[in-house]
Amino acid sequence: MRGAALAVLWASSCALALQPISQPQTQRRTIQNAGTLDDVPDEPRVDRRAALVGGGLLAVSAAASGEPQPYDYGLWGVLPVGPYKAKRSAPLETIVPGQVWTIDQKFGILNVQVPVRMSIVKLSGGGLWILNPIAATRELLDMVRSLEREHGPVKHVVLGTVAIEHKTYAGVFSQKFPQATVWLQPGQYDFPLDLPPELTGFPVGRTRVLPASSADTPWAHDFEQATLGPFISRDGAYGETAFFHKPTKSLFVTDAVQQVSADIPKIFLLDEAAKKPLLYHARDGILDRIDPSDMNQLRKGWRRVQLFGLYFMPAAIDIHSVPQSWSERRPDVNADFAGIYPWDWARDDVKAFRALSGDSKDALLVAPIIQTLILNRNPVETLDWVDAVCKWDFRRVVPAHLKNNIEAGPSSFRRAFSFLTEEGEPAGQPKPRKDDLQTLLDAEKSLESMGAIAAKPGLVSKTNRAEVLARTTYRCRGAFCAPRSK
Ligand SMILES: [Fe+2]
Repeated sequence: MRGAALAVLWASSCALALQPISQPQTQRRTIQNAGTLDDVPDEPRVDRRAALVGGGLLAVSAAASGEPQPYDYGLWGVLPVGPYKAKRSAPLETIVPGQVWTIDQKFGILNVQVPVRMSIVKLSGGGLWILNPIAATRELLDMVRSLEREHGPVKHVVLGTVAIEHKTYAGVFSQKFPQATVWLQPGQYDFPLDLPPELTGFPVGRTRVLPASSADTPWAHDFEQATLGPFISRDGAYGETAFFHKPTKSLFVTDAVQQVSADIPKIFLLDEAAKKPLLYHARDGILDRIDPSDMNQLRKGWRRVQLFGLYFMPAAIDIHSVPQSWSERRPDVNADFAGIYPWDWARDDVKAFRALSGDSKDALLVAPIIQTLILNRNPVETLDWVDAVCKWDFRRVVPAHLKNNIEAGPSSFRRAFSFLTEEGEPAGQPKPRKDDLQTLLDAEKSLESMGAIAAKPGLVSKTNRAEVLARTTYRCRGAFCAPRSK
């Protein structure tokens, strides 16, 4: 497996070394307008030999790593987050019979693993439209093939975000469906090397940039769509496209909104091994032994996984020093991470969880990190996008993480972004507690001082839109610049 990861890195390096044939390494390739990757005007063309060599080496590395189990993913080293090679999928979930389905896998680090979701929609003209593909294991592909047999071939694979954790799987998945057209959210970049899409596995000749308007897509009859950002920071970017599936009144988003849940997602209950993250985090201290059949304990573990995932350092924990964590390790109690459990749950975490849940079943949450470090830098553009989304009459929201198939409509979607307004969140709306936010607020201060993120232009009121826009920073990466509100 380690060999596979090294092979992938080596393949990338080789491919990059071939770039000067047509593209200086110092020049970043970015895409601004819709069109195939081969016909974007005034852009350096990527060399097809480089793409072929890079793709071939990736395939060799995957084959060499071996995938004996149907859920094994040999290319896990491209983005080494857990679960590593064994990427189990939850059973296909039917959201609307005969029309909408989802499949969940897990991803994360240090046992803070959350569902990552791909959505599948049957097009009215036949065939399948897929949003944000996940790891293309045999198990996952079998589920998609069975839908193809019933509903027609995969026609479109859409990456509706610039987020690396979604992009990393989309190229490999696309290669498995050679008849499909692949569509990428504008403003793609890569980390640590900003490679062009052709060198991160996206097929040459059938990969396109997602148009701004659904009228310019082949799925205009079925979907409306609206693009947010991408907003560019020094080292990354945030942007995604929301899709409204008209026949089923379903809204698909990636990371913009989500909902925490007390109930444990099915992906954690497939078998005993799938429970590992919950068993690890259900402990109040290192000496606690958790019964894997105790659902209350597993729910406690799931609640804490969500708090870690959303805050990184929830206020309810006391963290141990590195020497203390090492000297107190107890692999006989829980063998994960060599028996290290570097904190105690010293305070009540239920209050923190309730604050993120809100009072109503349709309450949607913008993740604290996105509230604190990203969307508050471009509040007017974000609220413009919220206005566009709220014109659609959706009845359910399907995000790429946490709870699936949320019964919620435009009013709950709008409330989720009230943190950007001077009025603030109405009563009952999920709202991060200040003490839980401390790690993110500290990060905000240091990232601002280093110039990694722009200063906040302030909250938006009914009368100050122009002033906020005047204070907003718009950054560019290569030829691509963050869009400004008109
Ligand atoms: Fe995500």
